[in-house]
Amino acid sequence: MKLTGRLSLLPIFILLFILSPPSLLFDSLRSPQARSDFAEATKTIIDVLSSDERFTKLIQSLQRTQLIYYVNHLKSVTFFAPVNEAFENPFITKETMLYHICQQEIKGEELYDGQLLTTLYKISDKLGEGEIGQKERVDFSDGDEREIYIGNAKILEKNLQADNGIIHVIDKVLEVPMDALTTLSSLDQLRLFVKYLRMTRLSDHIENGNHITVFVPTNDAINHQFKSYEKEYFVGECGGGLRDLDLLAKHQLHSDNVIYSSSIERGSSKIETEQGEPLDVERDEGNNIRVANGLITLKDLLAENGVIHVVSNISAPREIFFNAHKYLCGLRATKMVAAFLKYDHKHYIENLTAPYTILAPQNEYYDDSVMGREASTYHIIEGKYKVTDLKDNMFVKTELKTKKLLNHRQRTKVSVNPKWESDGVTRVYVRFNGVSVMGEPVEIGNSIIYILSKTLSPPGDVMAFAMREKQLSAFVSAVYASDMLPTVQTSEWVTIFAPTNNAFVKLGLLTSYLLHPDGRDDLRDVVEYHMLNESVYTEDIPQGESSYWTIDGASLKMIRDGDKISVKIANGTATIVQSDVLTSTGVLHVVESVQLPPTLHITLGKILKGIGANTMMELFKIANLSEILDDPMEPFIVLSPTEDAFKKINITKMSSDPELLSRLLRLHIIPATDDLVEGAEFPTLLSNNAKLVVRRNILHGGYDIEVKGYYSLIDRARITGTGRTWNGGAVYEIDKVLLPEHNSAQVGMMFFGLIVGTLLVAVFITTGGGLGYHHYRQYQRRRAGYEPISS
Ligand SMILES: *[C@@H]1O[C@H](CO)[C@@H](O)[C@H](O)[C@H]1NC(C)=O
Ligand SMILES: *[C@@H]1O[C@H](CO)[C@@H](O)[C@H](O)[C@H]1NC(C)=O
Ligand SMILES: *[C@@H]1O[C@H](CO)[C@@H](O)[C@H](O)[C@H]1NC(C)=O
Ligand SMILES: *[C@@H]1O[C@H](CO)[C@@H](O)[C@H](O)[C@H]1NC(C)=O
Ligand SMILES: *[C@@H]1O[C@H](CO)[C@@H](O)[C@H](O)[C@H]1NC(C)=O
Ligand SMILES: *[C@@H]1O[C@H](CO)[C@@H](O)[C@H](O)[C@H]1NC(C)=O
Repeated sequence: MKLTGRLSLLPIFILLFILSPPSLLFDSLRSPQARSDFAEATKTIIDVLSSDERFTKLIQSLQRTQLIYYVNHLKSVTFFAPVNEAFENPFITKETMLYHICQQEIKGEELYDGQLLTTLYKISDKLGEGEIGQKERVDFSDGDEREIYIGNAKILEKNLQADNGIIHVIDKVLEVPMDALTTLSSLDQLRLFVKYLRMTRLSDHIENGNHITVFVPTNDAINHQFKSYEKEYFVGECGGGLRDLDLLAKHQLHSDNVIYSSSIERGSSKIETEQGEPLDVERDEGNNIRVANGLITLKDLLAENGVIHVVSNISAPREIFFNAHKYLCGLRATKMVAAFLKYDHKHYIENLTAPYTILAPQNEYYDDSVMGREASTYHIIEGKYKVTDLKDNMFVKTELKTKKLLNHRQRTKVSVNPKWESDGVTRVYVRFNGVSVMGEPVEIGNSIIYILSKTLSPPGDVMAFAMREKQLSAFVSAVYASDMLPTVQTSEWVTIFAPTNNAFVKLGLLTSYLLHPDGRDDLRDVVEYHMLNESVYTEDIPQGESSYWTIDGASLKMIRDGDKISVKIANGTATIVQSDVLTSTGVLHVVESVQLPPTLHITLGKILKGIGANTMMELFKIANLSEILDDPMEPFIVLSPTEDAFKKINITKMSSDPELLSRLLRLHIIPATDDLVEGAEFPTLLSNNAKLVVRRNILHGGYDIEVKGYYSLIDRARITGTGRTWNGGAVYEIDKVLLPEHNSAQVGMMFFGLIVGTLLVAVFITTGGGLGYHHYRQYQRRRAGYEPISS
């Protein structure tokens, strides 16, 4: 059969012989090899394929792409022949057909896993200079039955021998490599890097460039190597993120030639990169290849214009470094970054060696109306404070140094709040000036960044604070009344003690005097005594007693007992009830008592004037008793009836008799005492026998005063206010003139008193209380010891 086949071709053979150039003819005659080629051409690859029914479609494709003649004249090639079933799409291009032919003849046994074969499909310059055949890769499957794959196709049968090459039967038409970008994009595990390539527009080069090698990190590698905010930084415009991303991507790219894994030598070597800094590559004994410590997990992914190796790590070139500036960008505090740059504060966020704690509101919480040059420095704390360095109620020093603080650093209050969460973890919640920190702080260089949920405002004007606080309204009034507003507001680097309203209430009638125009000078002294000539934060106050100076040069002592801090004043201490309110000029502490300077000289006269006891003062003058009001060495208590009380008596009549008037007034004067208790008796200036008795007022609370031996409830005078003088004397304001005279109305009142008394007995019986009993008893007693004023 073979013989007849050859004979049938004889005429063509002769024709070829005649038409061949003499040299070729001569060569083929002379060389045995040439002669054998000639002979074998009688059973070419085409012949083998044609004689096999499995390849009818392949033959058709070869005919359609006009490759029959070409294939017939190839020598020592390998042909991967897809079976008919492989031709889903009958229109196979000439390029694809050429991709099925390898330049060498490789027997099935010679194939090995990972082997790269060079095909006859050539695209000018794509894989190097000139015409270089596109590659295809051999892969061995893992299973028991070793299956061999060529690219996407499985070898069904090996080693169909033709005279001009060998044929391996495959089950699919081989797919020609795509450009590197398309190849990368087809793998989901490389999604992140592809995104980066597109962002940096390196994708164009990857797609259209020639002879490139890409070491592509997987998504996992990128996620492992870079923190979320670092990745966020890379993909933003802020701080040069995209520029760094470009360097990062170029560092994984080699464009000089195509480096297949087989060409990487044993041991360590370096591969030049587009970015400039070479990549460290290492091939070990087991043929594992590492790039920047990352294993190549998928090698030799073929692309039309190069090769791709998938790496389990990404290495950043040294040219890329992070600083607070870049981190802030990645942490979405770009508006804060813009403010730092605008106010020339670059050094705070770019110096890696300088220790700072940076507080940055996230963009959503950034308030442009608050942020200014000063506010921006208020967001930088001197020194690096990790969460573990922060303590509750601590005050940390910021970079804000103002003239109002005499260039001292403004401070920020720290709150640290550990909370037990439902998942059993204790989380620490940190706040700066009450503003919550979002998430965990981020360290970079010697700095640390806390992201805030609000823009911090530097502490404001002290009066603005005082006016906001309801409990400081009396203090505000005092500042205005004393004309001390400018001093309080503009004194620099001071401490201000602001007494509560209750503190002013405790001063009693003194407050009325101090707020009276005549009290202005004294009030000024009082206010000055509430200001220290330096800012004293409670954390800086030592245990025990320590001395400070007021702005007036007076000495003031503070006492610390554990966490309790108070100011020492003449009559005890004023406890600080709210400490360390930061102000633009220093610090303010709220105290529960008014601090009266020791030099303050409050007299009876001043108090009477302060409460507007004009009639009383006038009567003192008429009775020639003014001396008592001025400043007696011996302290007295004056019971001063209100103006209303005086309206009920005939003053004209009273003034006409100075002697009588003097007796009346002297009934209103007792020696100084602190002893206001039920039943206490005091001699008056009138006589030792004319005594006043103190009674509790069960209706209003507080105390009443009655003339001893004169028993009408209705004639008791209620003490409505007290004010102390410098030496222990006092004015007690009372609502009645003590005037123990009988008149007809008195009798009626006695009856009223009787009824009330009876009621009190009832109260006594039902409650068993002692006070009612007292009143009842006193009512029953006969009056005694009364010396009538009028004769
Ligand atoms: C990844 O590469 C970087 C840079 O070369 C290296 O510092 C890091 O240790 C590597 N990571 C791993 C997991 O090997
Ligand atoms: C960075 O900070 C350090 C430490 O505060 C300082 O010594 C150095 O001069 C600073 N560098 C620059 C460039 O400002
Ligand atoms: C406060 O005043 C005292 C006494 O006049 C003075 O010795 C001290 O230096 C002053 N302190 C400040 C911070 O001005
Ligand atoms: C002095 O202290 C006593 C007792 O603490 C108090 O009753 C009195 O009102 C105080 N005096 C002044 C002027 O604050
Ligand atoms: C008033 O009292 C003073 C001494 O207390 C006395 O010198 C003076 O004469 C008196 N004046 C009248 C008008 O009684
Ligand atoms: C007050 O007393 C004077 C003199 O005794 C008398 O003239 C006058 O009418 C009295 N006034 C009243 C309102 O009773």
